[in-house]
Amino acid sequence: MSRRPVDPTTTPAWSRLRALADTFSPDLRGWFAADPSRVERLTFDIADLRVDLSKNLITDDVTEQLLGLAGAVGVAERRDAMLRGEHINVTEDRAVLHTALRRPAGDELQLEGSNVVDDVHEVLARVYAFADDVRTGTWTGATGERIRTVVNIGIGGSDLGPVMAYEALAPFHHPEIECRFLSNIDPTDAAQTLAGLDPASTLFIVSSKTFGTLETLTNARLCRSWLLEALSDADADDAVRRHFVAVSTALDKVADFGIDPANAFGFWDWVGGRYSIDSAIGTSLAVAIGPERFAEFLDGMHAVDTHFVHTPPERNVPLLMGLLNVWYADLLGAQTHAVLPYAQLLHRFPAYLQQLTMESNGKQVRWDGAAVTTETGEIFWGEPGTNGQHAFYQLIHQGTRLIPADFIAMANPSFALTDKVDGREVDVHELFLANFLAQTRALAFGKTADEVRAEGVADHQVAARTFPGNRPSTSIMAPELTPSVLGQLVALYEHITFVQGVVWGIDSFDQWGVELGKKLAQELVPALGGDEDAIAAQDASTRSLLAYYREHRR
Ligand code: F6P
Repeated sequence: MSRRPVDPTTTPAWSRLRALADTFSPDLRGWFAADPSRVERLTFDIADLRVDLSKNLITDDVTEQLLGLAGAVGVAERRDAMLRGEHINVTEDRAVLHTALRRPAGDELQLEGSNVVDDVHEVLARVYAFADDVRTGTWTGATGERIRTVVNIGIGGSDLGPVMAYEALAPFHHPEIECRFLSNIDPTDAAQTLAGLDPASTLFIVSSKTFGTLETLTNARLCRSWLLEALSDADADDAVRRHFVAVSTALDKVADFGIDPANAFGFWDWVGGRYSIDSAIGTSLAVAIGPERFAEFLDGMHAVDTHFVHTPPERNVPLLMGLLNVWYADLLGAQTHAVLPYAQLLHRFPAYLQQLTMESNGKQVRWDGAAVTTETGEIFWGEPGTNGQHAFYQLIHQGTRLIPADFIAMANPSFALTDKVDGREVDVHELFLANFLAQTRALAFGKTADEVRAEGVADHQVAARTFPGNRPSTSIMAPELTPSVLGQLVALYEHITFVQGVVWGIDSFDQWGVELGKKLAQELVPALGGDEDAIAAQDASTRSLLAYYREHRR
């Protein structure tokens, strides 16, 4: 699909949004008081997720213009083009079909003469059979031991999704199998990941879409040496076969590494790395939680896809949330977006979203190569509540910056505990949720100087203890953190990211911005080793840092 993007700033909707923003005077207290139906109108259900947008800085006028903007730039058309398999990843000339990874068996989507849904389920069946073999102990290592630790070796999308989901779904883990995740090329990561492991019962999954990533291949070689040294009595080929499997789109390179093609799980170039948790890249997760739960994870994603495709714009949650982000980032000047899970097990979710959103939308040119006309790609960040409350919330409540925040909480805890206070049983999850509710309320409605004074606060402290309010937040709740709910959350943010990318006219599926640093790093390896020509080729600052390194390296 090579149609030029519509410049959003040239649309009538944008002009009206600009005018609204220029005189915008948010008043959540007033809006709530004047409109008893606000919460109902701005609360939505998407699969198991309850999404409350009412505490955002929007009026009906703003929402109407945002929806007009979506229509003018053709969000729905591009969504449909994506789902049909058109090459909307323009700079890499690829289809974008992560949604096909969660379509039910029996569906049909033809791409270049093949039904990709059949292809997906063929690989899934192999992943599930492998996961079952490891879980039941049928799969044994070279010395006949069952597998007790699975180490996923991968980076970026080949790490962040699996580790985030593994952590999030802790209550569903196989009781006798631990997964570890090795990503960084800092040798400390390999040393710490392998520490204490028994090679005879350890299985490595080398996960790399390209099978050409320096970090992953280096770590894979380190792990192979570690294994072969420990299992020196075993036949080396057999040891690698029993202890290494791979996930990649480049199955020829997998074979070159010495991994048996029978132990390799493929996927396709139409799955972006940061959109690949639901492909075979999720094999470690499938081992940890089992095929049935993994299938529930996929079903959760599919439920959100269905909502995104079939729900009218005014109730379409990913569309509305993506447009809200545009409103904040482009019209109201927000630079960052906080994601604050009130669910400890989602502690890696903000890091996962950083790659999803920032690698997708951190672009300065559009898909036709022209410069973008607006700010793009907010900075996503966050920490689980309540830890964040005691660290950076001060700035969100009383700082000078606008920081839209998504709060995510579960009605039921992953682990329930009660405390005894003055002889009374207290549900600790309720203490936790009280904080979730309190924060969004404080952000939205603040505390006026009069209210502070009425509490008897000394005059000199009144200003410092006043809360301005009108700090926007979205509240997302679900019954509990199940595989399906996690899948729903992931798909929700995928589609929010997509919507923003279309409005900005950018290719959300390439990542050229990571290439230059990779190339320069390769060139710097000889310089670190002392190659005088390589050192001389560097800039003055880099030469100075190299000199410091050589002086201090023992
Ligand atoms: O460097 C960025 C990137 O290409 C990501 O997009 C990707 O998720 C990661 O590297 C890992 O790539 P691969 O799975 O090919 O090893």
